[in-house]
Amino acid sequence: MKPFLIGLAIGTAILLLFINFGSSFRPEQPISFNHKKHHEQGVECATCHSYFKEQTFSGMPKVAVCMECHKDSLTNHPDEGKIRQFHEKGGGIPWIRLYQQPDHVFFSHRRHVVLAGMECKSCHGDIGQSEKPPTKPWVKMTMKWCMDCHTKTKANNDCLACHV
Ligand code: HEC
Ligand code: HEC
Ligand code: HEC
Ligand code: HEC
Ligand code: HEC
Repeated sequence: MKPFLIGLAIGTAILLLFINFGSSFRPEQPISFNHKKHHEQGVECATCHSYFKEQTFSGMPKVAVCMECHKDSLTNHPDEGKIRQFHEKGGGIPWIRLYQQPDHVFFSHRRHVVLAGMECKSCHGDIGQSEKPPTKPWVKMTMKWCMDCHTKTKANNDCLACHV
């Protein structure tokens, strides 16, 4: 009985260590950003993610964009002051990207959003309603995920359409 209990205790300790480890690797954004509040103010996605109409990528917001409204204090949220600190330091805000394909994959926002007329929501879920930054991707953007939609929408599923 005793060795079993000791084993169980050690096992539990190791398990807890792993769980802790796992959570310490969770990405934490430099500023607790609230999409919902900005959405309610009528700020458009393109104000902060400025490139999807012309480019393959959307882009993460530049600190200059935040400064257009946050040069002076708008709220008493503790993270608001960080915007001005990052601005003074230079070098932008080090946002962590959750959605990033490997180099051998070609993906174009313009193609999907402008040419195919798709909404951001259909791939990214309702991120516009998030009240704090997600800590993991809401959608697993695997090859199967891409190809399933391409099959459904009769889009190109040649290997070389997506692989460069
Ligand atoms: C006022 C600026 C602002 C607006 C407006 C805005 N975003 Fe964001 N967006 C951010 C910031 C800052 C982050 C990083 C922090 C976070 O995830 O909350 C982000 C992250 C994201 C991400 C995750 C990207 C990645 O790879 O991690 C997606 C997707 C996204 N936004 C989509 C949208 C959509 C869709 C809209 C419009 C409904 C929108 N955003 C409006 C500032 C903005
Ligand atoms: C077009 C103007 C505009 C832009 C651009 C803008 N904000 Fe804001 N932001 C606001 C307004 C207005 C509020 C207050 C909203 C409220 O209290 O409901 C706000 C609130 C906030 C808050 C406090 C949130 C809270 O939960 O109370 C933070 C933090 C913030 N913004 C960060 C950012 C960051 C980071 C960027 C750049 C990626 C940015 N904002 C870009 C207008 C803007
Ligand atoms: C067909 C699916 C799809 C749609 C629709 C879509 N996205 Fe994306 N998004 C992706 C994929 C895939 C990535 C990762 C791209 C990469 O790594 O090259 C991504 C990445 C991003 C990122 C990370 C930064 C960057 O430069 O790419 C942001 C921000 C983003 N999307 C915002 C948006 C917004 C805003 C819209 C609507 C205007 C939108 N997306 C519509 C699939 C989509
Ligand atoms: C929700 C549906 C959907 C998802 C998810 C999706 N796509 Fe697409 N994709 C489309 C549609 C529809 C088109 C056709 C657009 C047009 O009218 O040109 C397309 C077109 C393309 C094209 C142009 C193909 C050509 O040569 O005609 C590429 C490349 C592409 N997608 C890559 C991707 C990749 C990579 C992913 C996953 C990261 C992805 N797509 C996810 C719907 C989707
Ligand atoms: C609609 C877009 C799309 C098409 C078509 C597509 N792929 Fe992919 N492929 C992806 C994406 C996105 C990834 C990266 C995400 C992942 O690994 O699931 C990927 C990853 C891969 C990988 C790397 C897997 C790994 O484990 O690292 C290989 C190999 C690959 N694809 C081969 C192919 C072959 C062969 C074909 C043709 C039969 C093909 N792909 C067609 C989108 C596509």
